[in-house]
Amino acid sequence: MDLSITVNGMKFPNPFVLGSGPPGTNARVLAKSYDAGWGGAVAKTVSLESAKVVNVVPRYGKLRSRSTGEVIGFENIELISDRPIDVWLDEFRQIKKEYPNNILIASIMEEYEKSRWQELTRMVQETGVDGFELNFSCPHGMTERRMGSEMGEHPDLTEEVTSWVTEVSKVPVWAKMTPNITNIREPALAAVRGGAVGISAINTILSVIGVDLETLRPMPTVEGHCVPGGYSAQAVRPIALRMVSQLALGLPEGVSISGIGGIETSHDALEFMLLGSSTVQICTGVMLQGVKMIDELQEGVAKFMADKGFNSVQEIVGKSLPYFSTHMDLVQKMKAAKRSKAGEASRDNEWAQKDITEKTAELTSN
Ligand SMILES: Cc1cc2nc3c(=O)[nH]c(=O)nc-3n(C[C@H](O)[C@H](O)[C@H](O)COP(=O)(O)O)c2cc1C
Repeated sequence: MDLSITVNGMKFPNPFVLGSGPPGTNARVLAKSYDAGWGGAVAKTVSLESAKVVNVVPRYGKLRSRSTGEVIGFENIELISDRPIDVWLDEFRQIKKEYPNNILIASIMEEYEKSRWQELTRMVQETGVDGFELNFSCPHGMTERRMGSEMGEHPDLTEEVTSWVTEVSKVPVWAKMTPNITNIREPALAAVRGGAVGISAINTILSVIGVDLETLRPMPTVEGHCVPGGYSAQAVRPIALRMVSQLALGLPEGVSISGIGGIETSHDALEFMLLGSSTVQICTGVMLQGVKMIDELQEGVAKFMADKGFNSVQEIVGKSLPYFSTHMDLVQKMKAAKRSKAGEASRDNEWAQKDITEKTAELTSN
């Protein structure tokens, strides 16, 4: 089955994309994923000065099901890539040369300075990447330098910084949204005003994964202390689905959505597509299950399409959106359904209470 989809001019062999993070740490892991069958990848976020990026250990924390122990939520306090930009530029070039048919999107982030954003954009696009994703959404660490969600939480900054990038970019630009805001449409529309042609949503939700009752320390604990971090994995999926649907119903025609948040199976991916995502990104799912999860994703979507009579992935996108309404409309629909049911019931009663010949006469005009 052909699972390809063309989004903002980029032809994805299938809609499954590695989300920015550990699954896109370097060229070796990206190559392995393309070999396994992934249609595209957003590499780990890069910036001009990797020396400023210092990660801590431990930096992950898990929330497990009380009954089965399964991981349902995941928190991280990982920063963007700590690898030098020159190394990345070589690797972007190498990957595009070896995998010309897979989509490679570079995730970029910088401080609030036009020349820095434009320099990074120019450098990276020379390597031949297919598109950009602007990381306006990392909720921890980078915010102390007014980066990441510090920008995505302020629509004016989102618009301005996006326009710096689109001024010099020759490839499509997506903006990645933070869920740590009240109305996700505001920064998304700001990014579109700045020239973004796609919105990626969501990044992680600010969280504290738990407290160790023995040591009284919040987690993840680094040398006895902690900062809130980003929550991902299946627990965030309903929130991500809601935000994606709000975007799909509120963005101008032609702006694409890349759905992200808690996707682990083809079932989950289809939900995002039905609510308006042209592509879906997976980060924590790949960290927990490995890149081979692509097999089930492809098989499951192909089977769904065959069962439901969809001829292309594009046909699935947004198919469930018309079923969103207002609460008042739901009430009216419910009342109307009740009335018609009552009508049917009373008609049934009339037939049951009267002799059929009597009822026939009553309904006859002559
Ligand atoms: C360990 C880890 C590191 C991440 N690093 C980045 C990053 O560098 N840039 C970025 O845009 N998002 C990053 N993310 C966010 C993911 O790309 C994704 O938006 C989020 O985790 C929700 O999707 P998921 O439930 O499939 O993981 C990271 C997530 C995790 C768990």
